[in-house]
Amino acid sequence: MSWDTVSLEYDDDVATLTVDRPDALNALNVETLEAMGEAIETAADEGARALVLTGAGDAFIAGADIKYMQDLGPEAAQKWGELGHDVADALEAFPAPTIAAVNGYAFGGGCEMALACDLRVASESALIGNTEIDLGIIPGWGATQRLPRLVGDETARRMIFLGERLDAASAAEVGLFGEVVADDELEGVAAELADRLAAKPAFAMRTAKAAINQGYEGSQESGLAYEQRAFASLFGTPDQREGMAAFVEDREPDFE
Ligand code: HXC
Repeated sequence: MSWDTVSLEYDDDVATLTVDRPDALNALNVETLEAMGEAIETAADEGARALVLTGAGDAFIAGADIKYMQDLGPEAAQKWGELGHDVADALEAFPAPTIAAVNGYAFGGGCEMALACDLRVASESALIGNTEIDLGIIPGWGATQRLPRLVGDETARRMIFLGERLDAASAAEVGLFGEVVADDELEGVAAELADRLAAKPAFAMRTAKAAINQGYEGSQESGLAYEQRAFASLFGTPDQREGMAAFVEDREPDFE
């Protein structure tokens, strides 16, 4: 099945969802997010036993589409935040294991989609980080909650506060990637891992995943609600306008 910027392919019981917007390094706009949501729902309905998320070409997902976000106000940003949250939540709640095969840039919202997957494998040349701070905003699709849980509080604060872009080896060192492989081996390694997961008992797998996820529920929910309000409130501020204008005009930002 395919949409304009997303495809869903099967190899036996393993579904692969590929974000395919190479001109923008697979940055996510409304259309792409909606297609991802439909693809995830389709794969769940069709009983996929594992789902691989990856990007076409040399990028995984270079983030949310900055050109789209640039002029949003808080209300539109709230909706935009919700749309991305819905996709990330659908990945997290997917009834079978999900693997992010991180094949290149995974910044901002791209990092957040990878965080919403159960497991992450990456190519040697991948770069990952929550770079939102340099655009005058904060992560809005889950990283303020999911990143600290995965890599620990100190590392997450450093990454989010500094907008650090980690290479694959460094990301593996802090536990953000479970495995790093040669670029030309990533697809095969992810497929093999997916096959192994798909071969496990489906209901037990689903239950194990649900049990792990449930453990995080209490505080994550309120944290995400706070994040959405805080994220949206930054739109229209001088630093958001300046940060995004600087990106689009290809110059260094001059923050207040
Ligand atoms: C829109 C993007 C984009 C993005 C790249 N492009 N990233 N467009 N949104 N996030 C576009 C560029 O404008 C350019 O389009 C084309 O893709 C190729 O990008 P280049 O910059 O020319 O490529 P390169 O020099 O190789 O640099 C790659 C890069 C850089 C290092 C990934 O593009 C970059 O820093 N991108 C922004 C990464 C980022 O900050 N992401 C987080 C966004 S905030 P043209 O038309 O010029 O060819 C976010 C918030 C999430 O994700 C939460 C939201 C609620």
